[in-house]
Amino acid sequence: MTPSQRDQTARLFAVLAHGEVMAHDCARRQAELVDDRRSQRFLKVQAQQERVHRILFDRAADLMAPKQKRVIPPAMIEFEQQLQRALTRADLTESLVASQVVLEGLGEQILERLNRGLDKQGIGLSRQRRVLLRQEQGHFAFGQRLLLQRLQDGQARIGQVQELAGSYLLLVTAMVAEMAEVFAVLDEDASEYTDGLIAALPSWLLPAESTATERTGPAA
Ligand SMILES: [Fe+2]
Ligand SMILES: [Fe+2]
Repeated sequence: MTPSQRDQTARLFAVLAHGEVMAHDCARRQAELVDDRRSQRFLKVQAQQERVHRILFDRAADLMAPKQKRVIPPAMIEFEQQLQRALTRADLTESLVASQVVLEGLGEQILERLNRGLDKQGIGLSRQRRVLLRQEQGHFAFGQRLLLQRLQDGQARIGQVQELAGSYLLLVTAMVAEMAEVFAVLDEDASEYTDGLIAALPSWLLPAESTATERTGPAA
């Protein structure tokens, strides 16, 4: 790995660590907003897992570039503020779309590609990386299940969920664009992350305009 690849990988790890802080804080607060015990238990376990993930990414960032100043992309800060406002309003629907679906969906895309790259270079911790990815996939699936349940119970409207998904997707697209340099140095195509995320989302979650031409699937 070249020095600039180490620097940019450290930047990426630092951003992932910040994403884990956001996911941890969100799950902890969501556990107080849900009314069934199973979801509450899931969210408490999720919060613990996100805390461990943050420690792993923090360590990885420090190991790669010990003295690097941490820079969080502006769109990520905007994402965080929007999510915090939703949590302050006790808006569980918005927080699920933002954190479990969009943020974790993007995290999953990054981790999958990162795992492939790190394996190729023989960089360790492969077991931990795989456990982490499995846990993130669980959080992503949980978010979608809970959203569907809220739609069925009439606690959320499909138009509102799609609008929220669209607005948070714009923010992560901006975030990925702000990190273009990182992906360029790592020889990754940044647009593949957001394309991969959109492809991983069920069609009922996407705003009508983005689904009409690209996707066919049952409407909810
Ligand atoms: Fe995580
Ligand atoms: Fe997660």
